[in-house]
Amino acid sequence: MSVAVPDGPTAGAIDDSIEADVAAGAGDPSVLIGDAGSEAARVAVSVPRVDDAPETQGIGWPHRHLLDLDVVTWPEIELVMRTTDAMKEVLARPIPKVPALRGRAVTILFYEASTRTRVSFEVAAKNLSADVVNIAAATSSVTKGESLIDTVRTVEALGADLLVIRHGTSGAPYLAAQHFGGGVLNGGDGWHAHPTQALLDLYTMRARLPGRSLAGRKVVILGDVMHSRVARSNIWALTAAGADLWLCGPSTLLRGFDAWAKAGATAGRTFTVTSDVADALRDADVVMALRVQQERMEGGLLPSLREYAARYGLTRARLANAKPDALVMHPGPMNEGVEIAPDVATMDRSVITDQVSNGVAVRMALLYLMAGVRTGAAASGASAALGPAGTNEAPA
Ligand code: CP
Repeated sequence: MSVAVPDGPTAGAIDDSIEADVAAGAGDPSVLIGDAGSEAARVAVSVPRVDDAPETQGIGWPHRHLLDLDVVTWPEIELVMRTTDAMKEVLARPIPKVPALRGRAVTILFYEASTRTRVSFEVAAKNLSADVVNIAAATSSVTKGESLIDTVRTVEALGADLLVIRHGTSGAPYLAAQHFGGGVLNGGDGWHAHPTQALLDLYTMRARLPGRSLAGRKVVILGDVMHSRVARSNIWALTAAGADLWLCGPSTLLRGFDAWAKAGATAGRTFTVTSDVADALRDADVVMALRVQQERMEGGLLPSLREYAARYGLTRARLANAKPDALVMHPGPMNEGVEIAPDVATMDRSVITDQVSNGVAVRMALLYLMAGVRTGAAASGASAALGPAGTNEAPA
């Protein structure tokens, strides 16, 4: 299968077969199923009654694992959005809690630092009445040399039904999915994917845009695209939503994305790649600045942070090119004064704190939907952990 995933660290250090899985899913336009204008997109989405346990309802969510959005169709994304609406209603109650996941165990296993994703998954699981275990790799037996596979098997033996994992190596959640009997949610892997972030970004945009639609809206992702798993997952989400997506940054931080754009175009998933920031921001409806990931930066990609801020930082002057009411976004954590000016991050049309708070509702929706997927005797082993044709769908 040809691959159009821009360069990034691969999972080779973990397992070559996982690298192949990542590549197969992450760049092949043939796996793109839904788009916002299609007949499928108009299919009515049946929203679950989220006060009740998911297994008591016929929910049309087929994915046992959520590893990236490349295999998630537009109607399925719509289901996540509508289920998130229902979770927002729960969160507005005096006691923002439902018993839906009572008796289910969610383990949160993070090998990389996180505030938003880790905490919001924990809050989300507790709001659903699940039992929650947090494991930070730095204080676990990982420090004694335990492998990822052994850790996953141990977590399963300790009773986990759902596993949320963040890892610095692209593809690690795919490996975990092959060895875990329940469902795996990718909380961010290397440069590769951050699907729950992309879904909460999409939810936040829809909540603020007229008609709750991204169709034809110009969305600009600005900055260190190359190192950004958020950008990669947002490419899948935003092209599915029909947005006019632009990626903008220094050419050294856009390497490989032109090829992806060309490959995506053949499947009707177009986006524009440019280093011209004024052109990108002109008449934009949404501008999302990305963190300059200094910890992933090799020498020579940027002359200096100062020069980056001067040429690509999101300032009021630059934002003046966008529509007057253009939304300002950032997935966080922010380097204020580098990729985004402090006064832009806090201006009225900034929805950065909305992104954080919507993260709880989106993750409640995803935990709920995934808890409703039949895994059948914990899917009876690793061979069933990935669905047909290497997808992450539940085995029939
Ligand atoms: N956006 C995001 O993933 O933030 P954290 O690293 O704090 O989880």
